[in-house]
Amino acid sequence: MPDSGDPDDSKSDNSEALCFDMYGTLCDTSTVTTALGEHLDVADGFVADVDAVWRRTQLRYAQQVALMEEYRPFWEVTERALDYALNFYDLEPSERAREEIIAAYEDLDPYPDAADALADLGDSHTVVVLSNGNPEMLATLAENAGLADLLDDIVSAHEVRTFKPDPAVYRNAADRLDRELGECRLVSSNPWDVAGAASAGMATAWVNRSREPAEEVGGEADLTVESLSVLAEVL
Ligand code: LAC
Repeated sequence: MPDSGDPDDSKSDNSEALCFDMYGTLCDTSTVTTALGEHLDVADGFVADVDAVWRRTQLRYAQQVALMEEYRPFWEVTERALDYALNFYDLEPSERAREEIIAAYEDLDPYPDAADALADLGDSHTVVVLSNGNPEMLATLAENAGLADLLDDIVSAHEVRTFKPDPAVYRNAADRLDRELGECRLVSSNPWDVAGAASAGMATAWVNRSREPAEEVGGEADLTVESLSVLAEVL
């Protein structure tokens, strides 16, 4: 990333700025099942259940603390959600095992098409991450996943102390990119994120890898693709 974080001057000012969600869009959160499997003494099928409760609770807690005006960094939300998932299944790993599990969140695999799509789209567009993750965890993950050099900047919800889908997060991204909301496009696999960005007035691209149904509340995606590679072809 450029040191200043300023958009690259060689890119057209008229092109949209593309704001990529990180967890579940550029990087695969299910990578943590490997660490869960290694550190919890449970059957494989069960590991996927623990992972699902962890992820669901992480998103639910982010929305709850935002609504309750009790913001705390996403790393802490992720830790509390892991503790909930462990309690839910009555699991008590050692403190060391718990630390190894949580550390896996900073070392997620990128989706196989993420780097190529960022490189292709980055030739003509400003490309940034727009994520609920706090800056430290995002910088570490982008580096570990080999995506850092392909990004113009990372915009974190932490800057406004709330979480997507609060419109304040999308507005802050537009302000940071010095553009109108409609000149920025959220690229996300999370339907609730797409609904939130569209409701706030951002353009959206829904990367619907698993053919999920669209949300019934919020805005509608104005572009839906099945992968990041297809997105790079159509934009
Ligand atoms: C993100 C997660 C929450 O904002 O998907 O990257």
